[in-house]
Amino acid sequence: MSAGAHAVTTSIIPQWNRELLFEILDNIHDVVLVIDSDTTIVYANDAYARILGVPVAKVLGRRLDIIEPNSATINVLRTGKGSRGGDYLDSLKIDVVGSSFPLYNGKNIIGAVSIFKNITEVVELNRELQQTKGVADYLKEQLEQWQNLPKSFKEYVGQNSRLKETLVLAAKVARTDSTVLILGESGVGKEVLARAVHNCSRRKDKPMIKVNCAAIPEDLIESELFGYEDGAFTGAKKGGKLGRFELAHSGTIFLDEIGDMSLTMQAKLLRVLQEKEFERVGGTKTVKVNIRVIAATNRDLVSMIEKGSFRRDLYYRLNIVPLNLTPLRERKDDILELSKTFLRKFSQEVGHELILSPHVVRFLQAYDWPGNIRELQSVLEHASIVCSGISIEIHHFPAHIIPAADDDNSRIKEKPYDVKEIVGRMEKELILSALASYNNNRTQAMKALGISRRAFYDKLRRYGIEE
Ligand SMILES: Nc1ncnc2c1ncn2[C@@H]1O[C@H](COP(=O)(O)OP(=O)(O)OP(=O)(O)O)[C@@H](O)[C@H]1O
Ligand SMILES: [Mg+2]
Repeated sequence: MSAGAHAVTTSIIPQWNRELLFEILDNIHDVVLVIDSDTTIVYANDAYARILGVPVAKVLGRRLDIIEPNSATINVLRTGKGSRGGDYLDSLKIDVVGSSFPLYNGKNIIGAVSIFKNITEVVELNRELQQTKGVADYLKEQLEQWQNLPKSFKEYVGQNSRLKETLVLAAKVARTDSTVLILGESGVGKEVLARAVHNCSRRKDKPMIKVNCAAIPEDLIESELFGYEDGAFTGAKKGGKLGRFELAHSGTIFLDEIGDMSLTMQAKLLRVLQEKEFERVGGTKTVKVNIRVIAATNRDLVSMIEKGSFRRDLYYRLNIVPLNLTPLRERKDDILELSKTFLRKFSQEVGHELILSPHVVRFLQAYDWPGNIRELQSVLEHASIVCSGISIEIHHFPAHIIPAADDDNSRIKEKPYDVKEIVGRMEKELILSALASYNNNRTQAMKALGISRRAFYDKLRRYGIEE
């Protein structure tokens, strides 16, 4: 570099010498690094040691292509073109931002200079900010769904002894950081239990982030789980996006429907669970996370392993503390209490008291509950809307569940093709549904059904619908 090419007033600086130049360079707050044409480091200013924590003497004479083979400065030597922007120093695990430019002697490149600052803290802060933002968006989305869920074991409805055993074990494991695998049929309360485990853990003030492994399309699952860098693929959000694992950092990740994940994704998941680290899509930097894993499925993972559709090693990783939730039909003693809990809520919604007739209690206890607690809840919700009085009767329930236990319907089972019976059922269901839709306003329901007043009242009597 020749001083003559620059605007230096000789009256202020009489002698523009080496020492003066080095003094200036050492007082710059940014790192200044000079390499020669074979990438040997020939100069580093004082800021190098201060900012990067490595003594200058340790790097002088060493080759940058060995210490930091991917650095932007080496690229400048190769291309002869200067560059500006962010870079990541793998050897020191820090993010930097600055510029690099080539040094020419005539037409020949004789080296390169890099001037940069350490922005790891800014990157970290940005990551935290992104995480907070991401969590806020995610929680907003989830809030409605979670509002009605019991928040801890105390609120978990159930007295059945088998359920109690599971809850005791769940409360014990909640205090640890162990991976939990929740098993049970559909609608049995796996998510409720996962939430209770999280809420009773020391991570309770951090987010629990759910991943519905069955609902995310195969081609999106990787970016959903691990996030992506800016410009990772067409259609990617500017600035990249944090994945669920990063959102869950220092909290819990809930891998729901884990049995519905493809084998390819299972392999990727295994690595995260083992190493607690991953790379974002389109990124090379390894992201480390501190997470607690809760997984749930209604699938039989052991038989899936035998069929080759679930990885055995992943299963062992997950199956550290399995929590088995007993289906409702095997803990009939809880049906009444659960029903009362739901009825209290629905009574408030419809604005009057609701009770179950003794016949209905027997019916609920005899029913098979393939949809478990979720089905019980929605059946009672349906009944609470259809029922205009206080007492919920069998005919207030949706038609699809009645054949299983109602005497009235056993006839259908015996005569599955009896047109009169089946049409009758449908007619009754339509009337109930029309009444419910019009808030029990009979004139409006009648109009909607398109039948005469006489036919309407005839049918009400025939089907035993309250007059
Ligand atoms: N012990 C409980 N007390 C009160 N409500 C419960 C209880 N268990 C489950 N529920 C209710 O039952 C419904 C189903 O629960 P949840 O979503 O946890 O089931 P799941 O096992 O995850 O179902 P799926 O396999 O279909 O995902 C929810 O609406 C929840 O509020
Ligand atoms: Mg679920």
